Amino acid sequence: MKNFDEWNEIKKNIHKKETILKFSKRDIFFINLGQNIGYEQNGVGDEFLRPVLILRKFNKRFFLGVLLSSKNKNNPFYYKIGEDSFAILSQVRTFDAKRLSYFVKRLNENKFFEVVEKISDLLPKRESGLTSNFVKESISQNNNNFKLYTSTQRDIKVGKNVVIVNPSNLYECFLDDNVFVGPFCEIQKGVRIGKNTRIQSHTFICELVTIGENCFIGHGVMFVNDLFSEGKPSSNSDEWKETKIGNNVSIGSNATILPVQICANVVIGAGSVVTKDIIESGIYAGNPAKKLRDIK
Ligand SMILES: CC(C)(COP(=O)(O)OP(=O)(O)OC[C@H]1O[C@@H](n2cnc3c(N)ncnc32)[C@H](O)[C@@H]1OP(=O)(O)O)[C@@H](O)C(=O)NCCC(=O)NCCS
Repeated sequence: MKNFDEWNEIKKNIHKKETILKFSKRDIFFINLGQNIGYEQNGVGDEFLRPVLILRKFNKRFFLGVLLSSKNKNNPFYYKIGEDSFAILSQVRTFDAKRLSYFVKRLNENKFFEVVEKISDLLPKRESGLTSNFVKESISQNNNNFKLYTSTQRDIKVGKNVVIVNPSNLYECFLDDNVFVGPFCEIQKGVRIGKNTRIQSHTFICELVTIGENCFIGHGVMFVNDLFSEGKPSSNSDEWKETKIGNNVSIGSNATILPVQICANVVIGAGSVVTKDIIESGIYAGNPAKKLRDIK
C-alpha cells in the first residue's frame, strides 16, 4: 500500500526549503523522490530517497535527471553505470533542486555520455525517405527565416568495421567492410565503396560513382557527374554520367575526377584533373592528367 499521506507531509517541508544544493550535469545525488503514481518510481525509507543522475541543468533550481537503481532488472531499460548501479532509462524526468538531499559522486564522462546516447536512442526517429529529412530547424534572424540542415548518416548500408568520422553527410550509399570515411565528407545516393578503401577528409563523392577495393581517396578529392553540357547545371539526373574506379587506385589530394573509368592499380597525382578514361595501370598527373610513368 502506498504511503501518500506520510510523503505529503515531507513534501510540504521540501517545498518550503530555502537552502538549495549546488549541482552539475554528471552528478549523482540522492533526492527526495517521494511516493508516486502507478509505474512511476518511488523513493525508499523515511525520506523517500532514490539516487538520480543529472543529465541537464536548466538553471540553478531545475534539472533533467534519470533515476538510478541498485538492482538490475533484466529489461532493456536498465543500463549498468557502475558496481550495483543501473540507470533506469525509462525513468527520465525533470526535478526541482529542492529535492536534492545529498551528493554521492560525479559519474565519469564516458559513462555519462553512454547513458545520454542510450536515452536518445529511445526517442522516436524521423521516418527515412526524403531529402527533407535533413531539415533540422527553421531559424529566424534579422526578420528573415532560414533553414538549418544537419549533416547526418541516413539509410546507409555498411559492412563490418566501418568507421565514419562526423561531421560527414552520407545517404543511401553502401560502404563495404573496413571502409574509413574521414570528417567533412559527403557521399551521395547510390555510391558504392569497396572493402578496405579509405576516404580522407573533405572529399565529395556524388551519385553514380563506384569505387573499388583497397583504394585511397585523398583529402578534398572531388568527383563530378554533371558536365554542364547544356551550358548550366542539369537537374535531370538522366544527363549525369557515371564514374568507376577500379581496385588499388590511389587518388592524390585535391584531384578532380570527371565522369571516367579508371582501371585497377593507378595513382593519380595531387591536384590532377582526370578528364579521360584510364585503361592502363600507372602514375598519372596534371591537368588534364597524363601518364608520368609505370608503377615500379
Ligand atoms: C603524381 C606523383 C605520385 C608523382 O610522383 P613521382 O613519380 O615521384 O614524380 P616526380 O616528383 O618525379 O615528378 C615527375 C614529374 O611530374 C610532375 N608532377 C609530379 N606530381 C605532379 C602533380 N601532382 N601534378 C602535376 N605534375 C606533377 C613533376 O613536376 C615532374 O615534372 P618534370 O618532369 O617536368 O619535372 C606525386 O607527385 C603526387 O602527386 N602524389 C600524390 C600524393 C598525395 O596527394 N597524397 C595524399 C595524402 S597526403
